Amino acid sequence: MAANPKSAAAANVRAKHWHQGVPFHWMRDWPSPFPLVAASAEGATLTTIDGQKLDDFCLGDTAAMFGHSPPSLARAIAKQAKRGLGYMLPVEGVERVGALLAERFGLPFWQVTTTASEANRAVIRWARVITGRSKILIFNGCYHGAVDDVFVDMRGGVAETRRSLVGQVYDITQHTVVIEFNDFDALAAALAREDIACVLAEPVMTNVGMVLPQPGFLEEIRRLTQAHGTLLIWDETHTISSGWAGHSGTYGPAGDMMVIGKSIGGGVPCAVYGFTEDVAHAMIKARSKLPPGHSGIGTTLSANALAIAAMEAMLGKVMTREAYDHMLSLAAKLVVGLNGVIARRALPWHVTNVGTRVELICTPVPPKNGSEARAAMDHELESLLHLMLVNRGSLLAPFHNMMLVSPATAVDALERLVANLDDCAQTLSEQAP
Ligand SMILES: Cc1ncc(COP(=O)(O)O)c(C=O)c1O
Repeated sequence: MAANPKSAAAANVRAKHWHQGVPFHWMRDWPSPFPLVAASAEGATLTTIDGQKLDDFCLGDTAAMFGHSPPSLARAIAKQAKRGLGYMLPVEGVERVGALLAERFGLPFWQVTTTASEANRAVIRWARVITGRSKILIFNGCYHGAVDDVFVDMRGGVAETRRSLVGQVYDITQHTVVIEFNDFDALAAALAREDIACVLAEPVMTNVGMVLPQPGFLEEIRRLTQAHGTLLIWDETHTISSGWAGHSGTYGPAGDMMVIGKSIGGGVPCAVYGFTEDVAHAMIKARSKLPPGHSGIGTTLSANALAIAAMEAMLGKVMTREAYDHMLSLAAKLVVGLNGVIARRALPWHVTNVGTRVELICTPVPPKNGSEARAAMDHELESLLHLMLVNRGSLLAPFHNMMLVSPATAVDALERLVANLDDCAQTLSEQAP
């Protein structure tokens, strides 16, 4: 509070007109007594209005995974801003973005939405109309955005609509089946009933801490979905951090559809979903049987000119193989550094890592599913760590202990994070009762 008097004062003024003092409610989720106000961010450094410079490992919860305002993105946005932003017509450049997506992710057809939530809602609709089945299958602890169908939890082995939802009036479990990640038997049993339209999943669970797939689990999802006429949809909004072609493009197996959001526009709201030729044909056939009218998919700003310009810059010039090489090698260094702290301080914690995403989990044993991952979370300890780290100059996302490495992240920022964590661990152990 002493270091951020302007942010504190701004919080008081904001409270006059913004509900609970913020323009969007998750800005209250930070562990500080008031959110720090960002003045600017460049590369992997964020500067507050009090002039505090923070090494940013949150990176907008992946929106800025490839750094804040990379110069080619900033130029593309500025150029497009002078030419109009929303016409409801394809702009020049759409053809290039389509080719970039197809070449990178190996799926021939694509559509653009404004958010990944919207893309997920779209693919669920398509899967249902194509298969003629109403149910979808998800994994306990997943998050795919503000998507009603997906807010189902498993408690004590029983599915239930998430209790915290605002204004929820129908029972989501009617059409959503939930099982634990890495549960081969439950997967086989659920798909054998042949009433599931799609499996919607992240190849690595990233929203409940991080849960890695056990060897063969992703391949089993692929095999069984194919065997039972269920579409496999990979939501790679976060796992695009696994490698240049995302997780499925780097490690396999390929899905029938895929969703990518957030970082693909570098912070400009946009997302995409891609699909195979078979799915494309099935989409056309399904639509031809319906009367004309609104499909229930998409919003006015979908595929607007700014989104297309942003994606062309990101895919063509920012999310390059060289950028990934840098990110992957630094993430590997971060893992070594964090493991060093854990060993030195004899902490009952571990580090999980895929690609450029590193997660510090405050239990000794890696969780193998959503229930175990939830049980492993210690919200009080996480908040304390985040607060102590931000006071030392390292910014983590307010949710769990996720650290993202961008192409702009420097080795010294990484070393500071490791040293800061070491200092936090020492301070905490000195003060432990
Ligand atoms: C895996 C995954 N999919 C989709 C989304 C939704 O993205 P958005 O909030 O941009 O709609 C998120 C958001 O964090 C996510 O983690």
